[in-house]
Amino acid sequence: MARITYLECTKCGQQLSAETPRTVCPKDGGVLYARYDLKSLKAAFPRERLAGRAYSMWRYADVLPEATPVSLGEGFTPMLPSREYPNVYVKDEGLNPTGSFKARGLSAAVTMAKHYGSKKLAIPSAGNAAGALAAYAAAAGIEAHIFMPKDVPTANRVESEYYGAHVTLVNGLIGDCARMVGELKEKEGWFDISTLKEPFRVEGKKTMGYEVAEQLGWKVPTGIIYPTGGGVGMIGMWKAFDEMEQLGWMGSERPRMITVQSSGCAPIVKAWDEGKASSEIWPDAATRAAGLRVPKPYGDYLVLDILRKSHGTAVAVTDDEILDALRQWARIEGIFAAPEGAASLAAYRRLLANRFFTPDDTVVLFNTGTGLKYLDMLDTEQGVRRELPTSRQIAGIIGPY
Ligand SMILES: Cc1ncc(COP(=O)(O)O)c(C=O)c1O
Ligand SMILES: [Zn+2]
Repeated sequence: MARITYLECTKCGQQLSAETPRTVCPKDGGVLYARYDLKSLKAAFPRERLAGRAYSMWRYADVLPEATPVSLGEGFTPMLPSREYPNVYVKDEGLNPTGSFKARGLSAAVTMAKHYGSKKLAIPSAGNAAGALAAYAAAAGIEAHIFMPKDVPTANRVESEYYGAHVTLVNGLIGDCARMVGELKEKEGWFDISTLKEPFRVEGKKTMGYEVAEQLGWKVPTGIIYPTGGGVGMIGMWKAFDEMEQLGWMGSERPRMITVQSSGCAPIVKAWDEGKASSEIWPDAATRAAGLRVPKPYGDYLVLDILRKSHGTAVAVTDDEILDALRQWARIEGIFAAPEGAASLAAYRRLLANRFFTPDDTVVLFNTGTGLKYLDMLDTEQGVRRELPTSRQIAGIIGPY
């Protein structure tokens, strides 16, 4: 495993020691990246050394922080060739523990929290991150305190409770949940494991970038379409490509990185269209793709920079397009996707139609989770529950705090 040489602020470049737990840059609130001595690793860790290793994200342990992994078998998910589009692959993250790619980030973050001796972790979550934290905290013997919107998919609440987490349902959105964690954490002695407010969820998610390259025979695809809420997956994969170049595993070629969001909450798409370097709060965010209901992503400046550097783009698709894509994947590919994941297919269709991609381009669509966690919401289609979750509610606490 790799010793972290320092943590680096993505805004001011300040270097901080990783000897003690860190959140964000104390000077400007910038996201911190873990940095390793990749020059030495280049000699010690040729990619051939991966042969015969366990098929989990920890096969890349040489570029992950030095600590005993808290693992439930996350990562190395299937890269499925599409049956509908000859040059498209579906990276099926629904097969992770707790049914989403959030397992990777939380496995890494809980590993490091345990390493540092944290006893109580807190998270604001759109749903899937909560379930993942609850599972890894249970496996690590650490307390988990979860704040999520009261209208999250039932599975996210139920699994978190079964894993023994302290669950607070909030009459509001993820931003309201984050505010509550912020207000309570000092008094309660919680370590805040929010998206991009500690350095290690990115480390876990970056393994998706390593896997894309390895599973495509060390060739990067023309494009990667990634459903973006907080943007950690996109940020992590971009970091991985950078590291792989420094390790000599690939050259300077990069995939075009594509953000897809729901037209009911598309702050990154709006900022991209307006040529801005950061986003503004999206008012009255409303979408069935619960994980994309992030009105103001903390790492917006990183995502927008990646879109620019990779010659990518940002696309908003409607909930109807998402549900149509979800049905299509289920019927044609045999993949029952999370709505967030199905948004990738909706975006691909759009980008084929407007010739951003040609049918010859190799494109990886991320299905970030399983549809099985959204049965209550998907059953809405049968007329069970018609109202859309919205933020037009006054934030208030329902749960135990
Ligand atoms: C299934 C699913 N896809 C995508 C996302 C967005 O992820 P990120 O925060 O990495 O952009 C989420 C976040 O909750 C999610 O649960
Ligand atoms: Zn800084």
